[in-house]
Amino acid sequence: MLRSLGLQLRKPSGLFGKIVSAMLIKWNRNRYEILINDLKIQPNDKLFEIGYGPGLGINLISKEYESCQVYGIDFSELMYLKATKRNKQFIVSNRVKLMFGDFLETEIGIRDFDKVFCLNVVYFWDNLQKPFEKVISLLKDDGLFYIYMDSKEDLSKATFAEDDIFNKYTIEQVHDALKLAGFKEIDYYFDNGYFVKAKK
Ligand SMILES: C[S@@+](CC[C@H](N)C(=O)[O-])C[C@H]1O[C@@H](n2cnc3c(N)ncnc32)[C@H](O)[C@@H]1O
Repeated sequence: MLRSLGLQLRKPSGLFGKIVSAMLIKWNRNRYEILINDLKIQPNDKLFEIGYGPGLGINLISKEYESCQVYGIDFSELMYLKATKRNKQFIVSNRVKLMFGDFLETEIGIRDFDKVFCLNVVYFWDNLQKPFEKVISLLKDDGLFYIYMDSKEDLSKATFAEDDIFNKYTIEQVHDALKLAGFKEIDYYFDNGYFVKAKK
């Protein structure tokens, strides 16, 4: 049961995935609110979310910042359908574009994003170098990459987060991988989890 919760968090699907989707909305609203506030979104910003899940973050941004374009990718078909339903009005008005696919394998085809962000996703990457290099290639000069992740210590206590599903990165590992990928200014703070900002 706990192992299946871990697997569902990595890639939600089926009936259990629908329950997990509702849990994500409840658990992560507050973190999305903090993240969105920290992003300091400007008029006409172009944003990209990796692993948008049920699409709550994209929805909160689209409601508040009318001149922004928000793109995103997720490799769960269920999440793609849920996020599409939640953001239908913004998709119809061409302010949101949702992609279905693996971030690591998909050609994004759009560049020069002001901000790229991901919340609770880095654990599912076995290596941080390739995804971080891809992120930096999507950003415009001075663009911002923003990550939220639970700490290694907290994840190690979570019985659902088995080692072969969750990569429990330390903040130092993430910091070093961002630096190696070419990010210049890297800042972070801890508030029940790590909020990490990296500037291209
Ligand atoms: C724990 S959920 C977090 C969802 C959402 N960000 C939130 O916090 O509510 C992780 C999400 O990332 C997606 N995901 C994981 N690895 C991915 C990858 N390589 N490419 C695209 N999506 C990915 C999963 O399908 C899932 O929706």
